[in-house]
Amino acid sequence: MKKFQHALLASLCAVALPLLSGNALAQNTGKIKVGLMLPYTGTFAALGTAIENGFKLQLAEQGGKIAGREVEFFKVDDESDPSKATDNVNKLVKRDQVDILVGSVHSGVAMAMAKVAKDTNTLLVVPNAGADAVTGPMCAPNIYRSSFSNYQPGYAMGEVMAKKGHKKVVTITWKYAAGDESVKGFKEAFEKKGGQVVKELTLPFPNVEFQALLTEIAATKPDAVYTFFAGGGAVKFVKDYHAAGLRKTIPLYGAGFITDGTLEAQGEAAAGLLTTLHYADNLETARNNSFRLAYVKAYKLQPDVYAVQGYDAAQILQAGLTAVKGDVSKKAEMAAAMQKMTINSPRGPFKLSKANNPIQDIYLREVKGRENLSLGVASKQLADPARGCRM
Ligand code: PHB
Repeated sequence: MKKFQHALLASLCAVALPLLSGNALAQNTGKIKVGLMLPYTGTFAALGTAIENGFKLQLAEQGGKIAGREVEFFKVDDESDPSKATDNVNKLVKRDQVDILVGSVHSGVAMAMAKVAKDTNTLLVVPNAGADAVTGPMCAPNIYRSSFSNYQPGYAMGEVMAKKGHKKVVTITWKYAAGDESVKGFKEAFEKKGGQVVKELTLPFPNVEFQALLTEIAATKPDAVYTFFAGGGAVKFVKDYHAAGLRKTIPLYGAGFITDGTLEAQGEAAAGLLTTLHYADNLETARNNSFRLAYVKAYKLQPDVYAVQGYDAAQILQAGLTAVKGDVSKKAEMAAAMQKMTINSPRGPFKLSKANNPIQDIYLREVKGRENLSLGVASKQLADPARGCRM
């Protein structure tokens, strides 16, 4: 009997050991599975495409690989719809069994992704959505952002508008996390410097029926307006604000998404707009120039902030995975490397905060022709306060 048990154990080991080491091997050889969850339809469709383009450009510069491993992509169009987000992200995590999640643009969608990433310990890089919670109460060692928190551009603009001497401001945005938090960041800085937000106007995402709200702005006669819109909605808002004749009497300012990736469509209506963002088209550095040239060559399109964020999402992954020789199972080692690295971004070099959000310069920009030109740094090395993050 004993002999038989030994023999059984030996043969089990003979089968199981190679299987185990085979598994371990598969974690740093073979293809890395990357799930791209982005909007390819709706008001943010162009943003999703720019992010994917930027991400793939960075990979192409590395021979199409991440940390030396071939990449297999799985894609989901999230439609910027938070109500479908949990099902969508589960398609990538449970059905496709991706190693890495990249997404998304919309804050509500990204929060659902962060929850699933946290519950399943899947590596997530957010290449746009600014939801403060993602690097706040939901922060985790496997959750990273290559973009910004909604607080950051808003806060920078609060200081800029106060410095310009504006006292009474109306805000206008979509009623969801990104709009609310952008206005909150703005208000925090603006009111600290003595300004006052006299009215907070909102409409549901992704509505673009601005007329009644523009009439209300005209009647309120504030010193200026602060806004957060993006994508297709930003195009229409800037055109409607201009067409209503408000530009002459009530200056319009915004988080830079209002004029990023939108200038071709906005045309003259956007001329001279001042915005704050972590990127500007004309940053005269070798890094930005080579990025822009490579992007134009690859896609016959000018890059924007979304392309930069996609590119940097790939850079963050390259750095983290290279530190563990492509072995995604070495999560603690990878996290330690990502905490230490400096990303050589087209926006300028940046590091991640303890909560894994970029600490970065926020530029004041002005629209000239089809470009957002930097007028200088509005907030130097601005970090998100990461309220509620325990890590
Ligand atoms: C967001 O929902 O967080 C969001 C969407 C589009 C932007 C910026 C932020 O351009």
